[in-house]
Amino acid sequence: MDFVKLEREDGVATVTIDRQDKLNALNPQVVEELGQVLLDLEGDSPRAVIVTGAGERAFVAGVDIAAMREMSPLEAKRFAELGHAATALLDRSPIPTIAAVNGFALGGGCEVALACDIRIASENALFGFPEVSLGILPGLGGTQRLPRLVGPGIAKEMIFSGRKIGADEARMINLANRVVPRGEALNEAKKLASEIAANGPISVRLAKAAANRALDTDLISGLEYEADQFALCFSTEDACEGMGAFVEKRKARFEGR
Ligand code: COA
Repeated sequence: MDFVKLEREDGVATVTIDRQDKLNALNPQVVEELGQVLLDLEGDSPRAVIVTGAGERAFVAGVDIAAMREMSPLEAKRFAELGHAATALLDRSPIPTIAAVNGFALGGGCEVALACDIRIASENALFGFPEVSLGILPGLGGTQRLPRLVGPGIAKEMIFSGRKIGADEARMINLANRVVPRGEALNEAKKLASEIAANGPISVRLAKAAANRALDTDLISGLEYEADQFALCFSTEDACEGMGAFVEKRKARFEGR
């Protein structure tokens, strides 16, 4: 891998998009590598995955505009599909995903962050969708995931105007879960990932699937799905261990079984 690095520590995988001379902009190779790393991780079953950008300035400053400029409509479609497949591995993966947004998260960068379950922003993070200023539109999921997260009015304002917003405004509209001092986004994401990793991994996975279902279905079907996932937990050793540990007044040790 030239542009995507993977580290594993205590059950938490950190994926770093590393193309610093171009502010980590996503060309087709970066997107392919990101997809490949995320796919490989599903087999490894970490307890949480963090995605971040290398360096101090950018999470990801967008899709590579120089590369996009050369694309035919069919190549653009293929690229969008590649991006959709890679980003789906973040929100559709059973493993919780956290974006540590350490700087520019523009266009495709904002779309990668949006595909994560949780976004931690450093004070210097800048979010936005400048695509319309280039005569194109967000093509890696932005028009679909942003309205679901922040509501259609705010999403349309951001997408139609291309206006960039800082970390505090991103927090206000729920685009960022929390804001931390400059340079601290990755550390904060690691702390949160360890909290998640300490919980029953099967229950966390089933809870993610149930929460995702809330976005895709009506309430009655969602509640039925939740009841099934809830019941499924009771077939696991983790549930015996977790509830047993509470009753026996000791700390639970989850094995993911
Ligand atoms: N695509 C391709 N290259 C990009 C890029 C992108 N999305 N974002 C930054 N870069 C490159 C720049 O071309 C420059 O390369 P160079 O040194 O070879 O000229 C390098 O990264 C550094 O960027 P630069 O523009 O010099 O930094 P800056 O601090 O002046 O500005 C930004 C930072 C993010 C405001 C500016 O780079 C920018 O507007 N980028 C494009 C953002 C965008 O429209 N993203 C959505 C695309 S869909």
